[in-house]
Amino acid sequence: VNQEIDYDTAEEIAMEFDVLCEKEEVVDVIEELLKEEEEDENTMEKRPPVVCVMGHVDHGKTSLLDAIRHTNVIDREAGGITQHIGAYVVDVNGEKITFLDTPGHEAFTAMRMRGANSTDIAILVVAADDGVMPQTVEAINHAKAAGIEIIVAINKIDKPSANVERVKQELTEYELIAEDWGGSTVFVPVSAHTGEGISDLLEMILLTAEVLELKANPKREARGLVIEAQLDKGKGSVATVLVQKGTLHVGDAIAAGSAHGKVRAMMDDKGRRVKEAGPSKPVEILGLNDVPKAGEIFVGCATEKEARNFAETFISQNKMKLLEETKSKMSLDDLFSQ
Ligand code: GTP
Ligand code: MG
Repeated sequence: VNQEIDYDTAEEIAMEFDVLCEKEEVVDVIEELLKEEEEDENTMEKRPPVVCVMGHVDHGKTSLLDAIRHTNVIDREAGGITQHIGAYVVDVNGEKITFLDTPGHEAFTAMRMRGANSTDIAILVVAADDGVMPQTVEAINHAKAAGIEIIVAINKIDKPSANVERVKQELTEYELIAEDWGGSTVFVPVSAHTGEGISDLLEMILLTAEVLELKANPKREARGLVIEAQLDKGKGSVATVLVQKGTLHVGDAIAAGSAHGKVRAMMDDKGRRVKEAGPSKPVEILGLNDVPKAGEIFVGCATEKEARNFAETFISQNKMKLLEETKSKMSLDDLFSQ
């Protein structure tokens, strides 16, 4: 507060506060940019379901996905706790399903929310020996808020202390009522350890997806979400994105939140290099000039200039929001200091 600033800085700050007065017009530039016309039904093609696996910590989400994928991700996790969103594509009798694994630890609420918001179906994993716990309830709320279908997977049924009926009973409180209890929610008892029930679960996912008639136009500029991103010493900015519409190609100009660039290389969930990624496909991309934030939107652009413009608009819009927040906070502080 007591620091002296030079005229140029003062002018810059003053101008930004000035711009704030026109906030109404500026704030939703990005939303405006993203608005698009209804897509022609004829351009739409069937796309794989995107399924988010949610539930309380340690109820077996990653183990279940490992069992489905015949992999061993859980052994590589620090302390066996998932700390990021993992994206995987599974092939079930020629049909693809994209899975997002989310963390169950209470610290990762935002990730669960993002998971639910970017998917079509939620698999709610509840351990049969533990029952409904706080993050089970939180996951239900995220899924309901996002308006997505919920399939309940009651896991760890191999355990002697497993009690499937108790889980069904507990979930009635959250309007998730099993068919054999007179409701319409799909419940599948499973064991990630023995593999019991897993083929039933996959079948229920495909059935649910079929009813949803999920479609997207693959022949347009790509659009989707950043699932996670980090800075790699050798590769630079590495972002995992989920393509929701269109197709992303190596060489495409792209903007992702405040970052922009040209897709230099793309890897699928198995680490294989790919040249393109269509709807519902998660890919890791290299070539962004900065690290975007998880949850931000990415757009394929016609030119690199357009991509840069998008990112710049995004940055200035965010700056504006931040200033607005600081301003309201400042006035509150002023109030208290009087
Ligand atoms: P977070 O991602 O940290 O929320 O945990 P998670 O839900 O992914 O659970 P995770 O798969 O890491 O499993 C937690 C523990 O439960 C591990 O010790 C697993 O071996 C065990 N577990 C998972 N599934 C089963 C199961 O079907 N049966 C038994 N007996 N144990 C299981
Ligand atoms: Mg996990």
